[in-house]
Amino acid sequence: MSEYTIPRVKTGIPGLDELIEGGFPKGDTILIAGKAGTGKSILAIQFLYNGAVKYNEPGILVTLEEPPHLIKRNMMCFGMDLEALEKEGLLAIIDLSPSKEVTPVSIGEYPSFDLSGLKAIIASHADRINAQRIVIDTLSILAYKFRSRDILREEFFKLTAHLTQGGRTLLLTSEIPEHQNGLGVFDIEAFLASGVIVLYNEKIGPTSRSRSIEVLKLRGSKHSSRIHSMRITDDGIRVFPGEIGSV
Ligand SMILES: Nc1ncnc2c1ncn2[C@@H]1O[C@H](COP(=O)(O)OP(=O)(O)OP(=O)(O)O)[C@@H](O)[C@H]1O
Ligand SMILES: [Mg+2]
Repeated sequence: MSEYTIPRVKTGIPGLDELIEGGFPKGDTILIAGKAGTGKSILAIQFLYNGAVKYNEPGILVTLEEPPHLIKRNMMCFGMDLEALEKEGLLAIIDLSPSKEVTPVSIGEYPSFDLSGLKAIIASHADRINAQRIVIDTLSILAYKFRSRDILREEFFKLTAHLTQGGRTLLLTSEIPEHQNGLGVFDIEAFLASGVIVLYNEKIGPTSRSRSIEVLKLRGSKHSSRIHSMRITDDGIRVFPGEIGSV
């Protein structure tokens, strides 16, 4: 048997790394999928926060949905001070949220179907702070701008390949519409990713819900094949490897 082990990027999220052989494979693209409110953004931002604070790895957050001031306010509830990280050069937030009056970069508007502007702006920030981790929250918003599946797939592929060059690990969030069985808007996101994590917040009985997490696929890894309990606590997301979740 080979002694080779794939370099791993620790999430630092309590309970998660032990489900995935210590972390995400370095330089891979990982999809975080789930319905609305399942914790996709919190998990992805916690990955960046821990990267900066625990492992001294700078990160980039590209936000297409929530404006930065609300993200910062909400993460402060978990004791995570994103503003301080920005000041220390450990985090850069690229604001492409709808609240932004002037979008600094055109992203795939018809008829150009082109993500090269977005690619360039993320890459320049990544070079500036030497980012090791990149989060795009959420890919679903970008996907809606494309009308052709083929072009969407090609553009996404070029974007992810470019951003992960040099070993940067990329997390993409993807919203699963409420009444859909597949994984994402066009189900294309999953093809792009070498790993897929699914978050759930399912009803159990008439009056309560229960959160859980599943590692659906992770290339190169002997990952857990069970669905595990997850909670959003005062310190952020916590996974319980010993507890089987209900979906
Ligand atoms: N301080 C907190 N303590 C406990 N739970 C919280 C706290 N803050 C937020 N939550 C829970 O986390 C959910 C939001 O998580 P998050 O924004 O990561 O979800 P999401 O999957 O990104 O949702 P969306 O698809 O709407 O973007 C809230 O709906 C709430 O249930
Ligand atoms: Mg979100």
